[in-house]
Amino acid sequence: MTVRLLHIDTSARPGRAGEHPHGSYTRRLSHAFITRWQATRPGDPVVYRDLAVTPPVPVQHAWIPSAFTPEAQRTPAQQATLAESDALVRELREADVLVLGVPMYNFGMPSTLKAWVDGIVRIGLTFGFDPGRPDPYMPLLVERPRRAVLLTSRGGHGFDAGGPLAAVNHADPALRDVLAFIGITDVHTIAVEHEEEGGEVLAASLAAALGAIDALVASTQAFAPAALSTREALAA
Ligand SMILES: Cc1cc2nc3c(=O)[nH]c(=O)nc-3n(C[C@H](O)[C@H](O)[C@H](O)COP(=O)(O)O)c2cc1C
Repeated sequence: MTVRLLHIDTSARPGRAGEHPHGSYTRRLSHAFITRWQATRPGDPVVYRDLAVTPPVPVQHAWIPSAFTPEAQRTPAQQATLAESDALVRELREADVLVLGVPMYNFGMPSTLKAWVDGIVRIGLTFGFDPGRPDPYMPLLVERPRRAVLLTSRGGHGFDAGGPLAAVNHADPALRDVLAFIGITDVHTIAVEHEEEGGEVLAASLAAALGAIDALVASTQAFAPAALSTREALAA
Protein backbone atom coordinates (compact mmCIF):
# COMPACT_ATOMS: atom_id res chain seq x y z
CA MET A 1 0.00 0.00 0.00
CA THR A 2 1.28 3.43 -0.86
CA VAL A 3 1.68 6.44 1.42
CA ARG A 4 -0.06 9.49 -0.02
CA LEU A 5 1.77 12.78 0.26
CA LEU A 6 0.33 16.25 -0.18
CA HIS A 7 3.10 18.74 -0.99
CA ILE A 8 2.23 22.43 -0.82
CA ASP A 9 4.55 25.36 -1.57
CA THR A 10 3.63 28.93 -0.82
CA SER A 11 6.73 31.08 -1.28
CA ALA A 12 6.29 34.00 -3.67
CA ARG A 13 9.82 33.23 -4.90
CA PRO A 14 9.53 30.76 -7.75
CA GLY A 15 12.94 29.02 -7.70
CA ARG A 16 14.81 27.02 -5.07
CA ALA A 17 17.60 28.60 -3.00
CA GLY A 18 21.02 27.34 -4.04
CA GLU A 19 19.74 26.34 -7.47
CA HIS A 20 18.14 29.53 -8.76
CA PRO A 21 19.12 33.19 -8.11
CA HIS A 22 17.13 34.58 -5.16
CA GLY A 23 15.41 31.21 -4.83
CA SER A 24 13.15 30.16 -1.98
CA TYR A 25 14.40 28.32 1.10
CA THR A 26 11.06 26.71 1.85
CA ARG A 27 10.86 25.39 -1.71
CA ARG A 28 14.38 24.04 -1.26
CA LEU A 29 13.37 22.28 1.97
CA SER A 30 10.09 20.84 0.70
CA HIS A 31 11.78 19.63 -2.48
CA ALA A 32 14.51 18.00 -0.36
CA PHE A 33 11.87 16.23 1.74
CA ILE A 34 10.00 14.87 -1.28
CA THR A 35 13.18 13.89 -3.13
CA ARG A 36 14.52 12.09 -0.10
CA TRP A 37 11.18 10.34 0.37
CA GLN A 38 11.03 9.18 -3.22
CA ALA A 39 14.58 7.82 -3.06
CA THR A 40 13.31 5.02 -0.82
CA ARG A 41 9.59 4.95 -1.70
CA PRO A 42 9.39 5.93 -5.37
CA GLY A 43 5.89 4.51 -5.82
CA ASP A 44 4.17 6.79 -3.32
CA PRO A 45 1.87 9.32 -5.01
CA VAL A 46 2.54 13.02 -4.38
CA VAL A 47 -0.17 15.60 -5.00
CA TYR A 48 1.41 19.02 -5.53
CA ARG A 49 -0.09 22.46 -5.06
CA ASP A 50 1.71 25.74 -5.57
CA LEU A 51 -0.35 28.35 -3.77
CA ALA A 52 1.82 31.18 -5.12
CA VAL A 53 0.83 30.18 -8.66
CA THR A 54 -2.78 29.26 -7.87
CA PRO A 55 -3.82 31.11 -4.70
CA PRO A 56 -7.12 29.94 -3.21
CA VAL A 57 -9.87 32.55 -3.33
CA PRO A 58 -10.17 34.21 0.09
CA VAL A 59 -13.38 33.65 2.04
CA GLN A 60 -16.06 35.92 0.59
CA HIS A 61 -19.61 36.75 1.62
CA ALA A 62 -21.36 33.96 -0.31
CA TRP A 63 -18.94 31.35 1.04
CA ILE A 64 -20.18 31.62 4.62
CA PRO A 65 -23.89 30.70 4.21
CA SER A 66 -22.84 28.10 1.61
CA ALA A 67 -20.53 26.35 4.08
CA PHE A 68 -23.16 26.44 6.82
CA THR A 69 -25.96 25.07 4.61
CA PRO A 70 -26.24 21.27 4.87
CA GLU A 71 -24.80 19.68 1.72
CA ALA A 72 -28.08 18.19 0.53
CA GLN A 73 -29.80 21.59 0.66
CA ARG A 74 -27.16 23.64 -1.19
CA THR A 75 -28.15 25.45 -4.35
CA PRO A 76 -26.02 24.95 -7.48
CA ALA A 77 -24.57 28.43 -6.88
CA GLN A 78 -23.58 27.48 -3.33
CA GLN A 79 -22.02 24.24 -4.57
CA ALA A 80 -20.01 26.25 -7.08
CA THR A 81 -18.92 28.68 -4.38
CA LEU A 82 -17.56 25.79 -2.31
CA ALA A 83 -15.99 23.83 -5.18
CA GLU A 84 -12.43 24.98 -4.54
CA SER A 85 -12.70 24.48 -0.79
CA ASP A 86 -14.21 21.00 -1.39
CA ALA A 87 -11.20 20.11 -3.56
CA LEU A 88 -8.74 21.35 -0.93
CA VAL A 89 -10.50 19.34 1.79
CA ARG A 90 -10.57 16.22 -0.41
CA GLU A 91 -6.81 16.46 -1.04
CA LEU A 92 -6.13 16.87 2.65
CA ARG A 93 -8.40 14.01 3.70
CA GLU A 94 -6.75 11.66 1.21
CA ALA A 95 -3.23 12.50 2.38
CA ASP A 96 -1.26 10.55 4.96
CA VAL A 97 1.61 13.04 5.10
CA LEU A 98 1.24 16.78 4.56
CA VAL A 99 4.46 18.62 3.56
CA LEU A 100 4.06 22.38 3.76
CA GLY A 101 6.52 25.12 2.80
CA VAL A 102 5.88 28.00 5.20
CA PRO A 103 7.79 31.25 4.63
CA MET A 104 7.45 33.75 7.48
CA TYR A 105 5.81 36.90 6.15
CA ASN A 106 5.37 39.73 8.68
CA PHE A 107 5.47 37.31 11.62
CA GLY A 108 2.81 35.06 10.11
CA MET A 109 2.13 32.80 7.17
CA PRO A 110 1.68 34.09 3.60
CA SER A 111 -1.87 35.20 2.82
CA THR A 112 -2.10 32.47 0.17
CA LEU A 113 -1.51 29.84 2.83
CA LYS A 114 -4.03 31.49 5.13
CA ALA A 115 -6.56 31.31 2.28
CA TRP A 116 -5.80 27.56 2.04
CA VAL A 117 -6.35 27.23 5.81
CA ASP A 118 -9.68 29.03 5.51
CA GLY A 119 -10.61 26.59 2.75
CA ILE A 120 -9.79 23.41 4.67
CA VAL A 121 -11.38 24.29 8.00
CA ARG A 122 -14.94 23.29 7.12
CA ILE A 123 -17.85 22.56 9.41
CA GLY A 124 -19.09 19.00 8.93
CA LEU A 125 -16.00 18.01 6.94
CA THR A 126 -12.94 18.73 9.06
CA PHE A 127 -14.53 19.89 12.31
CA GLY A 128 -17.88 19.32 13.97
CA PHE A 129 -19.91 21.61 16.22
CA ASP A 130 -22.28 20.38 18.91
CA PRO A 131 -23.46 23.09 21.34
CA GLY A 132 -24.65 20.37 23.73
CA ARG A 133 -21.10 19.29 24.51
CA PRO A 134 -18.86 20.98 27.12
CA ASP A 135 -16.41 21.66 24.28
CA PRO A 136 -18.68 22.11 21.28
CA TYR A 137 -15.88 21.80 18.71
CA MET A 138 -14.79 18.35 17.52
CA PRO A 139 -11.88 17.55 15.22
CA LEU A 140 -13.03 15.27 12.40
CA LEU A 141 -9.72 14.21 10.82
CA VAL A 142 -9.20 11.63 13.53
CA GLU A 143 -10.22 8.40 11.84
CA ARG A 144 -6.57 7.54 11.05
CA PRO A 145 -3.10 8.95 11.80
CA ARG A 146 -1.84 11.78 9.65
CA ARG A 147 1.43 13.66 9.95
CA ALA A 148 2.17 17.25 9.00
CA VAL A 149 5.66 18.55 8.26
CA LEU A 150 6.09 22.34 8.36
CA LEU A 151 9.20 23.51 6.53
CA THR A 152 9.70 27.14 7.34
CA SER A 153 12.19 29.93 6.66
CA ARG A 154 12.67 33.27 8.37
CA GLY A 155 14.79 36.29 7.56
CA GLY A 156 15.66 36.83 11.21
CA HIS A 157 16.37 34.35 13.96
CA GLY A 158 15.20 33.32 17.42
CA PHE A 159 11.63 32.38 16.45
CA ASP A 160 11.77 28.72 17.56
CA ALA A 161 10.08 27.64 20.82
CA GLY A 162 12.16 28.98 23.70
CA GLY A 163 13.82 31.61 21.49
CA PRO A 164 13.70 35.35 22.23
CA LEU A 165 11.20 35.97 19.41
CA ALA A 166 9.05 32.86 19.90
CA ALA A 167 6.15 34.94 21.22
CA VAL A 168 5.88 36.86 17.93
CA ASN A 169 6.11 33.79 15.70
CA HIS A 170 2.59 33.49 14.32
CA ALA A 171 3.56 31.34 11.34
CA ASP A 172 4.23 27.65 12.12
CA PRO A 173 2.65 27.78 15.64
CA ALA A 174 -0.59 29.14 14.13
CA LEU A 175 -0.60 26.27 11.64
CA ARG A 176 -0.05 23.79 14.46
CA ASP A 177 -3.08 25.18 16.27
CA VAL A 178 -5.33 25.03 13.25
CA LEU A 179 -4.19 21.53 12.28
CA ALA A 180 -4.85 20.34 15.84
CA PHE A 181 -8.32 21.92 15.64
CA ILE A 182 -9.19 19.61 12.74
CA GLY A 183 -7.44 16.55 14.21
CA ILE A 184 -3.85 16.57 12.93
CA THR A 185 -1.70 16.67 16.04
CA ASP A 186 1.42 14.89 14.79
CA VAL A 187 3.16 18.04 13.52
CA HIS A 188 6.90 18.57 12.99
CA THR A 189 8.64 21.84 12.18
CA ILE A 190 12.06 22.36 10.61
CA ALA A 191 13.27 25.94 10.15
CA VAL A 192 15.94 27.83 8.28
CA GLU A 193 16.79 31.13 9.95
CA HIS A 194 19.10 34.08 9.15
CA GLU A 195 17.96 34.29 5.51
CA GLU A 196 18.39 38.08 5.52
CA GLU A 197 21.80 37.98 7.19
CA GLY A 198 23.13 35.34 4.81
CA GLY A 199 26.73 34.10 4.95
CA GLU A 200 27.93 31.40 7.31
CA VAL A 201 25.05 31.58 9.79
CA LEU A 202 22.56 31.00 7.01
CA ALA A 203 24.66 28.21 5.51
CA ALA A 204 24.88 26.50 8.92
CA SER A 205 21.13 26.88 9.48
CA LEU A 206 20.36 25.43 6.05
CA ALA A 207 22.75 22.50 6.57
CA ALA A 208 21.14 21.71 9.92
CA ALA A 209 17.66 21.91 8.38
CA LEU A 210 18.59 19.57 5.52
CA GLY A 211 20.09 17.09 8.00
CA ALA A 212 16.93 17.27 10.11
CA ILE A 213 14.86 16.58 6.98
CA ASP A 214 16.77 13.35 6.33
CA ALA A 215 16.00 12.21 9.88
CA LEU A 216 12.36 13.29 9.64
CA VAL A 217 11.83 11.43 6.37
CA ALA A 218 13.20 8.28 8.03
CA SER A 219 10.98 8.68 11.10
CA THR A 220 7.94 9.47 8.95
CA GLN A 221 8.48 6.41 6.79
CA ALA A 222 8.71 4.39 10.01
CA PHE A 223 5.37 5.85 11.17
CA ALA A 224 3.70 5.19 7.83
CA PRO A 225 2.77 1.51 8.35
CA ALA A 226 0.54 2.40 11.33
CA ALA A 227 -1.25 5.02 9.25
CA LEU A 228 -1.63 2.63 6.36
CA SER A 229 -2.95 -0.30 8.35
CA THR A 230 -5.68 1.97 9.79
CA ARG A 231 -6.49 3.24 6.29
CA GLU A 232 -6.68 -0.32 5.02
CA ALA A 233 -8.96 -1.37 7.89
CA LEU A 234 -11.26 1.61 7.27
CA ALA A 235 -11.46 0.81 3.55
CA ALA A 236 -12.34 -2.87 4.17
C1 LIG B 1 6.68 40.02 2.49
C2 LIG B 1 7.76 39.47 3.39
C3 LIG B 1 7.65 39.57 4.76
C4 LIG B 1 8.64 39.06 5.60
N1 LIG B 1 8.49 39.13 6.95
C5 LIG B 1 9.42 38.59 7.77
C6 LIG B 1 9.26 38.60 9.18
O1 LIG B 1 8.28 39.07 9.73
N2 LIG B 1 10.23 38.05 9.95
C7 LIG B 1 11.34 37.48 9.41
O2 LIG B 1 12.19 36.99 10.14
N3 LIG B 1 11.51 37.43 8.06
C8 LIG B 1 10.58 37.96 7.24
N4 LIG B 1 10.74 37.90 5.89
C9 LIG B 1 11.87 37.16 5.34
C10 LIG B 1 11.42 35.76 4.94
O3 LIG B 1 10.90 35.06 6.05
C11 LIG B 1 12.60 34.99 4.34
O4 LIG B 1 12.99 35.65 3.15
C12 LIG B 1 12.26 33.53 4.05
O5 LIG B 1 13.41 32.91 3.52
C13 LIG B 1 11.09 33.44 3.08
O6 LIG B 1 10.89 32.10 2.64
P1 LIG B 1 11.30 31.65 1.17
O7 LIG B 1 12.83 31.75 1.14
O8 LIG B 1 10.83 30.30 1.01
O9 LIG B 1 10.68 32.64 0.21
C14 LIG B 1 9.77 38.43 5.03
C15 LIG B 1 9.89 38.33 3.64
C16 LIG B 1 8.90 38.84 2.83
C17 LIG B 1 9.03 38.71 1.32
